[in-house]
Amino acid sequence: MTTFAGALAELYAAKSPADLFAGPRDYHRLARLLHPDAAPPARAVVAADAFARLAALWAEYQGRPVSGQTITTSRHTYRLNGQIATGDIANLFSVTYAGTRAILKLPRRPADNDLMAREATALAQLARDGDPEYRAYIPRLVETFEQEDPATGARRAANVLSEYPGMVTLARVAEAYPDGVDPRDVAWMWRRVLVALGYAHRAGVVHGAVLPEHILIHPAEHGLMLVDWCYSVTTQDSPVPAMVARHRDMYPPEVPARQPATPATDIYLATACMRALMGSRAHPRLARFADGCTLPQPRRRPQDAWRLLTEFDELLENLYGPRTFRPFTVPR
Ligand SMILES: Nc1ncnc2c1ncn2[C@@H]1O[C@H](COP(=O)(O)OP(=O)(O)OP(=O)(O)O)[C@@H](O)[C@H]1O
Ligand SMILES: [Mg+2]
Repeated sequence: MTTFAGALAELYAAKSPADLFAGPRDYHRLARLLHPDAAPPARAVVAADAFARLAALWAEYQGRPVSGQTITTSRHTYRLNGQIATGDIANLFSVTYAGTRAILKLPRRPADNDLMAREATALAQLARDGDPEYRAYIPRLVETFEQEDPATGARRAANVLSEYPGMVTLARVAEAYPDGVDPRDVAWMWRRVLVALGYAHRAGVVHGAVLPEHILIHPAEHGLMLVDWCYSVTTQDSPVPAMVARHRDMYPPEVPARQPATPATDIYLATACMRALMGSRAHPRLARFADGCTLPQPRRRPQDAWRLLTEFDELLENLYGPRTFRPFTVPR
């Protein structure tokens, strides 16, 4: 089929993506013929519609959910609103179910299902064993289910997580403050990340990937949420299962060495994030505090995030006096 009309006929005759595609070559061939720029001028509107339909079918063929599509599980029907983020292993979509907005996290490769299962296990354990007072520091797991890829039959594990509007990652914050964030603003983020860790560790969960993309803050409310529990460890003496390669330099030595993860692993990572956020603006005493939390030997680091928070509060009081609320914004 080599003409616009032919491609159009082929597209509208297809009842499912599999009728149209056996692989990317079929998609590229049709896309070339149907592209609105290549179509006969009089057929531009038809071409635009056809091209959108082609893109949707191709997305479906690849197992990527398409905006407007619904996914029905035994618990809920989710309407897809569109993709909101591309993670290291998963794509994240905004979804709505029963009038509630949530986030659907779907791994790009079925080989990563085990990491998704880890996240589900950790979030369930935190909800069960964690102090409810601190529940807002982690996303709520709405449900976990398997989705079958219509093209290949492969099953992918999906997690649905509660969404909190208005949160931004520390990666975004760092971008917005290339010269570093004032340590007096970092102070509340640092305190809250220690709260999140104290909460998780008490419930027997080590996060394993406390990285800038996984620390979400609410600038106006001084809220904080720790996301991406795919690398978490809930059993004693087990290593962190995988590293986010991009951040290789941030990890403590026990992670690449595949030695057991402990609360001190998270404390190291959280500290590295805070240090990076302050950059050269760190007060020397804060820098020294950070050094003590990032010693190479896990056993020589602080082990208890709650206790560390008490020490940190004393240091802040010494440096800056009684706590006051400092408005914080993240410029676009
Ligand atoms: N519950 C949430 N609410 C708001 N934003 C979120 C939430 N969970 C994740 N995000 C955003 O989506 C991005 C990617 O999410 P996440 O890190 O969980 O996926 P991922 O990196 O693919 O995970 P993994 O590699 O462990 O599968 C995060 O950096 C964050 O910006
Ligand atoms: Mg991630």
